Amino acid sequence: MIDVRDVQKWIQNGTRRVDILKGLSLRIPAGQFVAIIGASGSGKSTLLGLLAGLDTPSAGEIWLDGVPVHSLDEGALAEVRGRKIGFVFQSYQLIPTLTALENVLLPYELNMEGNGLEVARELLRAVGLGDRMHHYPVQLSGGEQQRVALARAFVVSPPIVMADEPTGNLDSTTGHLVLDLLLERKRHANTTLVLVTHDPDLAARADRRIVLRDGMIVDDTLPEENGSPSSAEELRIHG
Ligand SMILES: Nc1ncnc2c1ncn2[C@@H]1O[C@H](COP(=O)(O)OP(=O)(O)O)[C@@H](O)[C@H]1O
Ligand SMILES: [Mg+2]
Repeated sequence: MIDVRDVQKWIQNGTRRVDILKGLSLRIPAGQFVAIIGASGSGKSTLLGLLAGLDTPSAGEIWLDGVPVHSLDEGALAEVRGRKIGFVFQSYQLIPTLTALENVLLPYELNMEGNGLEVARELLRAVGLGDRMHHYPVQLSGGEQQRVALARAFVVSPPIVMADEPTGNLDSTTGHLVLDLLLERKRHANTTLVLVTHDPDLAARADRRIVLRDGMIVDDTLPEENGSPSSAEELRIHG
């Protein structure tokens, strides 16, 4: 469903070209849980922004369900993003004048008719913020804001959720709450998850780990390569 073909990203800095991503290719099928890992500065956030259509590649192609997102104009891109992708920014990007509940409802009101109030409340409860719904962002800790941003990403039940360090500011208890929410959505809604993370627990639960170094993929552990139970089963039957 996400097909990245030889994508490069560079920034022109005066006469000097700074290469950030140096030709990446990958395919992410629907329902896969992918962890993108790598040292700070390796290009993780840049890659995630390109996958989400928040930024455009300098070269190469990105296809989302057969749609060439690399060649869409801003309006068309925003439309695809709104329908298909829930995004959790590293900096949360909550609206300061809206309460936690209103922030979570925002994409719902932009994207659908009807009333997502109950869905929004359920998501806030699921991330442990049942008693913080009417607080404003400034009244919330960093970890609480991060969880509001996560609830907001899921409110329209998008087929794909992308998050930049979704447990970066959480203690281990709330980190597990968030992980539970992610896995529950993947199981019940077959949500494709693409997460940038430093969290070894989170990375360990992913179906696949993509390691970036200096703007290149240096390791890509696919589930098949681990010898999944089904392929082991087949070997036993046929071998
Ligand atoms: N707009 C920009 N201008 C110049 N350099 C940038 C810009 N955005 C990112 N970079 C550089 O690209 C590299 C990768 O950045 P980033 O994708 O944020 O890495 P990560 O998320 O893995 O820490 C870093 O060296 C960063 O400084
Ligand atoms: Mg980053």
